[in-house]
Parts: sequence; C-alpha cells; structure tokens
Amino acid sequence: MSAALPRKRVGVLISGRGSNMVSLAEAAQAPGYPAEIALVISNIPDVAGLDRARDFGIATATVDHRAFNRDREAFERAMDEVLRVNQIEFIVLAGFMRILTPWFVTRWEGRMINIHPSLLPLFKGTHTHRQALEAGVTEHGCSAHFVVPELDAGPVILQAKVPVLPGDDEEALAKRVLVEEHKLYPAALAEVASGRAKLEGGAVVRG
Ligand code: GRF
Repeated sequence: MSAALPRKRVGVLISGRGSNMVSLAEAAQAPGYPAEIALVISNIPDVAGLDRARDFGIATATVDHRAFNRDREAFERAMDEVLRVNQIEFIVLAGFMRILTPWFVTRWEGRMINIHPSLLPLFKGTHTHRQALEAGVTEHGCSAHFVVPELDAGPVILQAKVPVLPGDDEEALAKRVLVEEHKLYPAALAEVASGRAKLEGGAVVRG
C-alpha cells in the first residue's frame, strides 16, 4: 500500500456568510481528502463565516481592505503575508467580494480557484441569477474555475447544472444553485489539490 500524499494546506478567502467554506471544511474532514482547510481570511470584520470557521477549529484572520485607502496591491500584500506565515499552498475564493490585481493573481496562478454562480462563460460579474432570469434560459448552474487576471474568465474545472423552473425568482434560483455549489466546490478542490486537474498553458489539463 502506498503512503498517503501530504494534504495541501488551503486558505479560504471569504467576505460573508461562508456557506461554501463550510462545505469545504466538512469535506476536508473525510479521510483521504487531499486538502486541509488551514486558514480562513475575511476582508470584512466579524462576518458570520469567521465564526463558522472557528466552530471547525480553523485558524482565522481579518485583513480589512478599508485600512489600505483603496490601494489594492497593499491590501493584497498584507493578505499574502498572512498566507505565507500560515504556509498556505493553495487559495480557494468562496464569496470573496474583492477584485484581485494581476500582481496577486499571477503570484497564485494555478494555485487559486473560485466558484461562480453561473454556467460560465454565461453571466459573468454580479447578479447572475437575475441575469439568467432576464435572458430566459432554461438551464443555469455554477462553475468552479481557476482564477486568471480577467474577471470570471478562468478555465473551468467542473460545472453543475440546475433547471430554471416556471415562477422562479432570484431567491429561488439562487437557493437551487447553492445546493449544487456545496457539492461541486469540494469536488473541484479535490481535483486540483490531488493534482488530477492542473492549469497548464491557460487550460485545464487532467492527468
Ligand atoms: C456564492 O453564491 C458563490 O458562488 C458566490 O458568492 C456566494 C457566496 O456564498 N461567489 P457563501 O459566502 O459561500 O455562502
């Protein structure tokens, strides 16, 4: 029997309730899961997600972007330092509501993923459920993708689909998609943390 590979030390960046972070922390409790949620950082103080991380015994930090006078890179350098001190190898964005500069994205390229609540490349940016309803699509969903400098444009690792049902409003659709996000994101993190999916030459390569 071969020895288990060391688990990747993952830092999760959040800005709010952190339900995706919780689904990752739960998944990471399974024996054999290839990642450990070692740190949760929020850019907003006192959000619910920080409490939920502490409930799992996960180390937490707050790096308040407002302390950096709109200097995005200074904010990111402060976050990067916290990640370094905690020996983080991989970043998962989970409801993190700051746009990252090319400096930070390039530094973590191939080692940072995001979940976006739409079937990319459809409906980038915010209010994705509203965008889907306005477009009249019959199918919607979520995408886990590598982060590249262009917003919501990174190569997709996994997607999950849900139907858009007659009478759906934004809230109903968001709820249906979120159920899928909570399954998709742990699966996507397992793919990349185990090395089964990699970012190479701007595309996802599986091996
Ligand atoms: C999720 O819908 C995620 O797709 C989007 O922001 C939301 C975060 O929710 N990027 P939570 O904080 O994980 O509960």
